Amino acid sequence: MRTPVVAGNWKMHGTVEEARHRVWDMLQPLQELSGVERVICPPFTALLAVANMLMGTDIRLGAQNMHWATEGAFTGEISPRMVAEFAQYVIVGHSERRKFFGETDETVRKKVRAALDHDLTPIICVGETIGERETGLTDRVVHQQVLTALADCSPEEASRVIIAYEPVWAIGTGLTPTPEEANRVHREVIRATLAARFGEATARQVRVLYGGSVKPHNAPGFFAQPDIDGALVGGASLDPQAFVAIVRAAAEAKGTK
Ligand code: 13P
Repeated sequence: MRTPVVAGNWKMHGTVEEARHRVWDMLQPLQELSGVERVICPPFTALLAVANMLMGTDIRLGAQNMHWATEGAFTGEISPRMVAEFAQYVIVGHSERRKFFGETDETVRKKVRAALDHDLTPIICVGETIGERETGLTDRVVHQQVLTALADCSPEEASRVIIAYEPVWAIGTGLTPTPEEANRVHREVIRATLAARFGEATARQVRVLYGGSVKPHNAPGFFAQPDIDGALVGGASLDPQAFVAIVRAAAEAKGTK
């Protein structure tokens, strides 16, 4: 049985004070949903404040990005060693990083390696653009993204990563694939790629999340799918009630509550 995961990616939203309020408003109900791995990914500036609030709970903290080098002359970057001071997870290769900041499958590969070297769990984002979808390239693109991201991993390391399938056209748009379509990519592309490269056992262990316009009303449909192990939530994770409702839906669908 794979433990479900729901991670909230706050993206570039809010001050430290606003982060404190948001966490305060979700902390109690989130603590009651311990069958789901719950991860909060605030901006870097709020990591310390949120880490302090999560201390003594089993709610985890994630960063939204990092550099791959341990330290060095990389002005404006944050290293895995710095992230690991506060966080246990790190989002790698989000489509907004790929689109606006030149991240490639190759930089994702380096970051995944660095995350594992610093005992961070990478949440690796993959997904096709609308153009790729319309030209029938979804499977090829996602397969290649998974393969390159994990190129430096042993089967044991691969079994510990989290993969988030986030179709780019579904992010922040209110559009989503059907749960069945998402599940097909999870099973026939992501798990199949993992099985071919690392073996069936690893493919069965990896948590594969769906991301892209996940809201309380559509979350149960995604979580009812056998190969969808949770969600990476953007906009709805900024609303404490909505985020808790999505975590609760995961707990109910996966039988941990
Ligand atoms: P939305 O839930 O706002 O579509 O964002 C998804 C996402 O990019 C999470 O990483």
